[in-house]
Amino acid sequence: MSAQIIDGKVIAAQIRNEVKADVERMKAATGKVPGLAAVLVGDRKDSQTYVRNKKKACAEVGIASFGYDLPADISQDDLKKVVTELNANPDVHGILVQLPLPGHIDEEEILGTISIEKDVDGFHPLNIGRLSMKRREPLFVPCTPRGCIELIIRSGYSIDGKRAVVLGRSNIVGLPAAMLLLHRNATVTICHSRTKNLPEVVREADILIAAVGRAEMVRKDWVKPGVVVIDVGINAVDDASDPRGYRLVGDVAYDEVKEVAAAITPVPGGVGPMTIAMLLRNTTDGAMRANGLM
Ligand code: GUN
Repeated sequence: MSAQIIDGKVIAAQIRNEVKADVERMKAATGKVPGLAAVLVGDRKDSQTYVRNKKKACAEVGIASFGYDLPADISQDDLKKVVTELNANPDVHGILVQLPLPGHIDEEEILGTISIEKDVDGFHPLNIGRLSMKRREPLFVPCTPRGCIELIIRSGYSIDGKRAVVLGRSNIVGLPAAMLLLHRNATVTICHSRTKNLPEVVREADILIAAVGRAEMVRKDWVKPGVVVIDVGINAVDDASDPRGYRLVGDVAYDEVKEVAAAITPVPGGVGPMTIAMLLRNTTDGAMRANGLM
């Protein structure tokens, strides 16, 4: 039996429509629209593409976006000054500092400078603390992990009481995703490069979130029949038959694993579109909170 394909493009479009309706409601009630400041440091091509896509998505739902393209050799103090000014700007409800930052910048200090009320990526240390602790509410849930949970729930799968395995322990995806699953009453195992008997551990999963950045690492014989698979990986592999010379694949061997899984996200078209949709959601939530609308 072949798995249900979880279509991230369709679910992300639903979320963008919900956000657009809230933006219109806010505009009618206050005359203002949500605003997102996107801070890009340096000239990494991948980061430029991500930021361009985020700004385009803002425009489509009526969110104002403000771009800050800063030189790679900006000083820590000057970058902090930009963030501090954005903290004070009432037209800006969300501040996003695209990661990774150049090596000479202290990332933790910069992320900690963002006002917690405007931290739409949810990377502020205090926000992550609240996200991790029992009976605490974060102001914002980081976008990619929030997107993973939405994909599971909106596809009709429950998390409560399930065995969940998260592959990867990054600050941006693996760690917060594990916390979100835990708070929804999953029994959670986090796997990483030092995990022993990895396939055996992954085979316990009812829900698998793969976020390690290793092309097609999870094979058919690694998973339990009926697993729900959320594949966060985006890996380029050489492919002479593709006009670009490469194609994108996830961390999961999609063609094999879909034969045994209950549900699986494709790459591309699974988690990718959700990250931006959740950023729009978080920015609009921040703006509505700032204007007493939620
Ligand atoms: N770099 C990779 N993913 C992200 C993200 O979700 N937000 C930011 N700011 N940078 C990233």
